[in-house]
Amino acid sequence: MTADEKVNILLVDDQPAKLLSYEVMLEELRENLIKATSAKEALEKLLRTDVAIVLMDVNMPEIDGFELASMIRQHPRFQKTAIILISAVNLTDLDRLKGYERGAVDYISVPIVPDLLRAKVKVFAELHRKTRQLETLNQELETRVEERTQELAKRAEILEQLNLMLAHKNQELDAIIHTAPDIIFSRQADGSRDYISDRFYEYTGAPPGTASGLGWLEYVHPDDKDKATVEWTRCVESGANYEAEYRMRSRDKLYRWFRARAVPIRSEKGEIVRWYGTCSDIHDSKLLEQSMRESATKLEKMVDERTAELRELSVRLMTMQDQEHRRIARELHDGLGQELAVVKIVLDNALQQDLAPATKRACGEVINIIDRAIQQVRSMSHLLHPPLLDEVGLLSAISWYIDGLSERSGIQTSLQVEPQEFPRLPPDLETAIFRIVQEALTNVFRHAGANNVWITLAQRGVQTIVTVRDDGRGIGAKIVELQPESLGVGIRGIKQRAKEFGGELHVSNANPGTIVQVVIPSPIVCPDTTLVDECAQAGK
Ligand SMILES: Nc1ncnc2c1ncn2[C@@H]1O[C@H](COP(=O)(O)OP(=O)(O)O)[C@@H](O)[C@H]1O
Ligand SMILES: [Mg+2]
Repeated sequence: MTADEKVNILLVDDQPAKLLSYEVMLEELRENLIKATSAKEALEKLLRTDVAIVLMDVNMPEIDGFELASMIRQHPRFQKTAIILISAVNLTDLDRLKGYERGAVDYISVPIVPDLLRAKVKVFAELHRKTRQLETLNQELETRVEERTQELAKRAEILEQLNLMLAHKNQELDAIIHTAPDIIFSRQADGSRDYISDRFYEYTGAPPGTASGLGWLEYVHPDDKDKATVEWTRCVESGANYEAEYRMRSRDKLYRWFRARAVPIRSEKGEIVRWYGTCSDIHDSKLLEQSMRESATKLEKMVDERTAELRELSVRLMTMQDQEHRRIARELHDGLGQELAVVKIVLDNALQQDLAPATKRACGEVINIIDRAIQQVRSMSHLLHPPLLDEVGLLSAISWYIDGLSERSGIQTSLQVEPQEFPRLPPDLETAIFRIVQEALTNVFRHAGANNVWITLAQRGVQTIVTVRDDGRGIGAKIVELQPESLGVGIRGIKQRAKEFGGELHVSNANPGTIVQVVIPSPIVCPDTTLVDECAQAGK
């Protein structure tokens, strides 16, 4: 009920005229006026509407005011309904008492003073309104309290569920911590240790509770202590993740390697509130890693040694091959060549004798054959090892060789030397350069399909540079890159010979053609040809 809502006022009197007069008197109060001419009607209307005030005459036939008042009061709904009795006669105090006992709250005597009636009715009407408002407020309050209570109950239920979940999670966490092979720890924001799992005590045999603060450090290997603490201080200051490896002493007084890791947990403001970390036993993998590293180093060393051995072997092989060539060349030249020359002299002498013409002819033919054989032996011997190389040097040997090549292959050759007065080089180097040129030219002849080949022999500063360029079909990319699997014995030999003297081989495309170049640094130049023999001695 609001403050402006009208209240119902029941007017009861058996005389309609009186009812009308009450009505007139109360009109200006602007409340709802309900009329009843009998107690029965009054009761009916009371039951149907929410009546605030019952104004009734004491003197009524059948049921009088007192009786009706007590009937109304008996009903639980009307315990608080204001009942005002109107009495025509002067009532004694006893009568009044009777009325009050029956539930009346006030009396009005006749003749009615309208203002008095209105004042009284108004008070009860306001009281009713206030009471109703209070009831409404109470009801609202109750509803709100109820809602609030329900909400709180719901929250309490959620809280209980959360607590249960938390307890469950804690149990899980406990299980994980206790079954984890790692040591689990936490530290405060300032880095001091505040928790460490039982695994630490199991491993170290430390008395329970002694690992907090700096107690754990006692079990770290003396050589690793600094490293572990310095890194930890650095991380606490910078907030970076912590990682360190150190050895920890077991209960059997043996040290094993551990890897500790920790991450900071931050508040919403970003401040570090705690650190959580693990400490894992990495001893076996660390040892394995170490032994693997050692094995790899050993293996590398072995490979290096083997490679050096092989290189030495191949150098020796080439030197021996050169010596063998030189020996066979001499044998051919001095042995077979000489024998053939002797046979030729014998036959020449025989021809001076008086022989049958057929025999003479046969002798002549044999002499021709022997001449060709002598020539072949000479060529073979010179190819194997040009005598010129030892005697008048590299330039003459190369000139002789390229002349022969031109003649045999029809390839135009040109030799350029720089400086013109080319110095003599140590015999081994001269042999090597001759073999390099020979092999490069053989390749031109065999693979290039070239018309021209230019050979350059240059001595620039402390470098000897040998270049063989042709105008043939060019060379494959893999060979240019000197990829071992694409090289044959020839180019491999050139490379090896260059390396033997600390030099390098470069193969490139000349478009058209191929360039094979060998650069050998700081050769020991023998300025005087008279020194050749000494150099040869030194080289052996
Ligand atoms: N001047 C060249 N022109 C074109 N191709 C060449 C030349 N020199 C070498 N090659 C190529 O390089 C390959 C490797 O040469 P090499 O190591 O001397 O082995 P081989 O001559 O026995 O094949 C040759 O097979 C050839 O294909
Ligand atoms: Mg070859």
